[in-house]
Amino acid sequence: MLPLEDLFTDVINKAQRGLGLSDEALAQQASVSFAALRAVKDGEVDEAVITQIAPVLNLHAASLIAMARKDWQPQPVEIEGLLQFNTPFEDYSVNAYIVYDPDTKVAAAFDTGADASAMMKAFVEHGLTRGSIFITHTHPDHIADLATLCPDEIAPVFSCKMEPWPGTETFNYGAMFALGGLEIETRPTTGHSRGGVTYVIHGLEKPVAIVGDALFASSMGGGMVSFAEALKTNREQIFSLPEDTIICPGHGPMTTVGEEKAHNPFYPEFK
Ligand SMILES: [Fe+2]
Repeated sequence: MLPLEDLFTDVINKAQRGLGLSDEALAQQASVSFAALRAVKDGEVDEAVITQIAPVLNLHAASLIAMARKDWQPQPVEIEGLLQFNTPFEDYSVNAYIVYDPDTKVAAAFDTGADASAMMKAFVEHGLTRGSIFITHTHPDHIADLATLCPDEIAPVFSCKMEPWPGTETFNYGAMFALGGLEIETRPTTGHSRGGVTYVIHGLEKPVAIVGDALFASSMGGGMVSFAEALKTNREQIFSLPEDTIICPGHGPMTTVGEEKAHNPFYPEFK
């Protein structure tokens, strides 16, 4: 299984950036010394200091400590009709997904990752009909290999009207798509990007949500457009899904809504 995308220090940094809190302000508001805060941000697992700073950042202290101690990983996910692909991009890696209807073998791709050649192989190996390509958001790592995934330009590529990609068909949030006997619902998860989409697939043995960089196991994408909006749209559009919904993030391992409610430090209200 893929390791968690973020370290506990990444979570602290994302929350700090999102709230616009300097180290000085955070240390002061948390009543910890500047040196102690710096040590934690350099990776020291000082539970007392983490416990002090977490509430100032609206983070759940115990979940942050579990990350620091490397105590938690989501359960492995395996269901028929869902394939995850992970490819290296610069100094990190990125995920893309194939979802298919096990009965009709009609398949769709969600993002391309850095290199879609394994996805092209998987269509053949699983006997799938290559259908539409859906883009979660247009950051370069997620759409780097449209040329491989759609060499003949026969398959339609879809992006959201709020963040259209040239040469693709666009849709508004709320649009529904059929995938064999499955249904794909499109939900707005903006904040990390201007037109971020979460695709919720209904009809497999569990609901599946392909979230791009809106949410990671035990973390979330940076609030590059708006941290507050990213938190809000995740709460409204992802955490409202059934607990057994499988979350497929753009980076790091798959997880579930129930596990993120219990372990994601950014959402203390569910603990
Ligand atoms: Fe992104």
